[in-house]
Amino acid sequence: MISDILSLVEKHEQWRGNECLNLIPSENVMSPAVRSLLASELGHRYTARDRFYMGTRFIDEIEQYGEELAKDVFGAETADLRPLSGHIADLIFLACFAKPGDMLMCISPEDGGYPGLWDDGLAGFLGVKAVPFPFLKENMNVDVEKAEETIKRLKPKILIFGASLILFPHPVEELASVARENGALVGFDGSHVLGLIAGKNFQDPLKEGTQALFGSTHKSFFGPQGGIILADKEHGEIIKAKIYPRFVDNAHWNRIAALTLALAEVKNFGREYAEQVIRNAKALAKTLHGYGFPVKCANIGFTQSHQVILDFGNYERGREMAERLQRANIIVDCVIRIGTCEVTRRGMKEEEMAKIADLIKRTVLDGENPEAIKKEVAKLCSEFQKVEYCFK
Ligand SMILES: Cc1ncc(COP(=O)(O)O)c(C=O)c1O
Repeated sequence: MISDILSLVEKHEQWRGNECLNLIPSENVMSPAVRSLLASELGHRYTARDRFYMGTRFIDEIEQYGEELAKDVFGAETADLRPLSGHIADLIFLACFAKPGDMLMCISPEDGGYPGLWDDGLAGFLGVKAVPFPFLKENMNVDVEKAEETIKRLKPKILIFGASLILFPHPVEELASVARENGALVGFDGSHVLGLIAGKNFQDPLKEGTQALFGSTHKSFFGPQGGIILADKEHGEIIKAKIYPRFVDNAHWNRIAALTLALAEVKNFGREYAEQVIRNAKALAKTLHGYGFPVKCANIGFTQSHQVILDFGNYERGREMAERLQRANIIVDCVIRIGTCEVTRRGMKEEEMAKIADLIKRTVLDGENPEAIKKEVAKLCSEFQKVEYCFK
């Protein structure tokens, strides 16, 4: 039994860690130092805000240090590293400020919004009525004019920008003040683009008028899997007063130590990393488009984020292709979204994006045998085993 689990983990590590082109935009790779903290002694320990547990003196300092660093990196008045995931960060934000019957305006899942916010997810759970932002599908963005009119008419209590499919900055600057004047609280679910925001290469929701920015710490942000909430003082203090014991008890201090080190990496290397992630996404999108793939938003430069979206107009067709690519060890999701975070962190640049586009084309369009492509994928990966944008 022991050898079974160890062998499964080892096989997974060898496959996904060494032999695959990992192109899922929700994923990333931690530096060895950040990763090692997940296995530290902290993973055995408890603390609680009411000082119930003894033995927490270093953990308390780590928490303090992490919060200060997060405030600095994001230019936020408050930071909380305790949410256990992006979804839990969404839950905390919504549950702290929305009452049953309130209206929430966010991006519809049909337009790439996060389904977890909607009726089958948090809105349904909390009895909140979710309504969609008017959206321009061809630009993959909120329709500012219509949204302004809708906000004035419906007066939603909460607005959440951000999405699971996100190619361009959302119009926070254009809409936050109208929303706030009409009584709304404005948040940004930055789960996908947090690393680009931290690297000052996307948008700056807190400066543009949102009262909170929250989400996952492991997609474009290259920390451990988990969540974070950054907010202004007024709302951050309300969140801090409620987060324990309502939403998080043990906050997993090994994760928080790892996240703190990742924040330090982002502070030092985040700008350079984010610039390359976006350059890589643009290069990949352009080459794929040149090969005839239906790359979304060709007319407006394809992407300004870590994502490239191939729009086959049909989920089943997407799945078919994702499965074929998997046979070549090229890992994407079924939308198909292609993400450049992880390959960038491995040190790949535009030249490698051209190679990846070629491997995708040969697998999907030319019908070459995926087993043969797999060998070329493994060779390319073997040249990029290190993790960049971190302390040596
Ligand atoms: C926009 C958005 N918010 C929240 C989440 C949930 O994040 P997590 O998986 O960290 O709970 C996702 C998941 O992909 C997402 O895309």
